[in-house]
Amino acid sequence: MQKPVAVVTGAASGIGLALSRALVDAGYRVALADVRVEPLRAARDGILKDAPSAELLDVVSDVTSAESVVALAETVVREWGAVDLVINNAGVIGPVSTTWSGPLEQWHLAVDINFWGVLHGMRAFLPGMIERDSGRLVNVASVAAWSSAPQMGSYGATKHAVMALTESAYRELAELGSKVALSVVCPTTVRTGLVTHLEGTESAGEAKLLAARERGLQPEEVAALVLEGIAAGDYLITTDRAWLVNAAKQRLGVAEGGEPPLDREPPR
Ligand SMILES: NC(=O)c1ccc[n+]([C@@H]2O[C@H](COP(=O)([O-])OP(=O)(O)OC[C@H]3O[C@@H](n4cnc5c(N)ncnc54)[C@H](O)[C@@H]3O)[C@@H](O)[C@H]2O)c1
Repeated sequence: MQKPVAVVTGAASGIGLALSRALVDAGYRVALADVRVEPLRAARDGILKDAPSAELLDVVSDVTSAESVVALAETVVREWGAVDLVINNAGVIGPVSTTWSGPLEQWHLAVDINFWGVLHGMRAFLPGMIERDSGRLVNVASVAAWSSAPQMGSYGATKHAVMALTESAYRELAELGSKVALSVVCPTTVRTGLVTHLEGTESAGEAKLLAARERGLQPEEVAALVLEGIAAGDYLITTDRAWLVNAAKQRLGVAEGGEPPLDREPPR
């Protein structure tokens, strides 16, 4: 029997690389996609070194471009046939700045990658899955889809958007009576390169992020949890359910006229 096929965007490092390795171990053929050519090749070589029989494709693909993501889908279908699992994982932290500052081009880039990148992935892969009435698409959001910290407006806004896109599509698939499944992943801080470009910088928001990363989870822990969630058929996959509950309660507190109107610190 043929192995199932998975596609992972942002597969060259961090959570995407850990997910790709875990999927290989779980018996998938994995298409690794990333915009950075050398790290992508290094990721492929590293996986093959540890798992010489792994069946991999490495596809340079930029999620900010609809054409590039469609080309990724076409490549995988041409090489392997139907896609069973897509993980829209590529993402950036965006500018760590107040909402009224930060270079506008960085705000646009955060939207291009975190919002448009996910939507491009949904539009490139979901129609084929719907036609076959099978498959799962997983969007990687964050706990930042539930509560937005100071200086994290671009990240928070784009991750809230990922949650909204996933939720709408989930209900659309239900309306269709489709068997295609969706999941959304909301991890707390993970020790990856996501904030590496901030090192050596000095704003309070950036210092907080770098400190949080040191206490973060390992990407392998998140990957294992995502695979467990997929196997269980979970829609919401998170590393910290209590965090999400506290975030929702904070917002409800606002609705009920709680004082102060919104806790100044995000949930813990
Ligand atoms: N690290 C965390 O604390 C954390 C927490 C919650 C959610 N997340 C989310 O997890 C996902 C993976 O992040 P990570 O922490 O592994 O960071 P990372 O920087 O290690 O990995 C992100 C990958 O995305 C790729 N990428 C960036 N722009 C791209 C583009 N235009 N097209 C294709 N690929 C592109 C990068 O080259 C990189 O390999 C992101 O969506 C991130 O928001 C991370």
